[in-house]
Amino acid sequence: MSVSELLPARVSSGVAGLDELLGGGFPPGHVVLVTGLPGTGKTCLGLQFLLTGAAAGEKGVFLSLEEDVPRLLENARQFRWPVDAAVEKGTLKVLHLDPKETRQSLAKVQGDLGRELKQLGARRVVVDSVSLLNMLSDDESGRRTTLFALAGACRQSGATTLLTAEADPLHPEVSRDGLTEYVADGVILLGYRTGNDGHRVGLALRILKMRRTSHARTVQPYAIGPTGISVDAKAVDFGGP
Ligand SMILES: Nc1ncnc2c1ncn2[C@@H]1O[C@H](COP(=O)(O)OP(=O)(O)O)[C@@H](O)[C@H]1O
Ligand SMILES: [Mg+2]
Repeated sequence: MSVSELLPARVSSGVAGLDELLGGGFPPGHVVLVTGLPGTGKTCLGLQFLLTGAAAGEKGVFLSLEEDVPRLLENARQFRWPVDAAVEKGTLKVLHLDPKETRQSLAKVQGDLGRELKQLGARRVVVDSVSLLNMLSDDESGRRTTLFALAGACRQSGATTLLTAEADPLHPEVSRDGLTEYVADGVILLGYRTGNDGHRVGLALRILKMRRTSHARTVQPYAIGPTGISVDAKAVDFGGP
């Protein structure tokens, strides 16, 4: 029996080219941070990840702290993904945690979220974004507690999870809170490529960390097109984020 037969099957990201860089996909049960500046496609990647699971009959939960449910679904429809059918079938569930309801939102993350995800039978979870979740806590110790509780709940559910986070505008290679990197099993950095004149000329990503995976460390260009994100895994190292 070969080693690959002993390893559990990988969870496809649904993004052409990215699975290749990941050595087949995400290790099941991983909690992966997707960080990048606004507009780099974090929300899009999260939706694409869940709809890929939904297409295979796997249940996914999108926990949104930014957009409300109608706006998020409208985002997904723009990419012509069968999002309404997935919601109807129950393979996609979108939950909105209103950051204005601070106390309730924190209580949920620190309380019964893990059990709830398990009850829903979620195989894939996206939390968009932990940056907003972090704003609910007043200090670093509160943020740490919330993040550990969130990662714990996702692991307890057995689902494979993507947490999105805004990158620090001054140091776009790290998340704004600088904490999520430590609770995650993996980190994917989305960023802008700049030309010699300093203008943004495109997008490129890099896998910074992925536990239990022999992954690529190169910077690869990607695009957000009419059917979602695709990564050019063949292009030689582009330099960038
Ligand atoms: N239907 C679409 N076709 C092509 N590109 C799109 C489409 N919708 C959004 N985009 C691109 O995706 C970007 C936003 O992606 P999003 O996932 O919201 O980013 P983030 O969550 O990182 O802020 C937009 O700025 C635009 O460039
Ligand atoms: Mg977003």
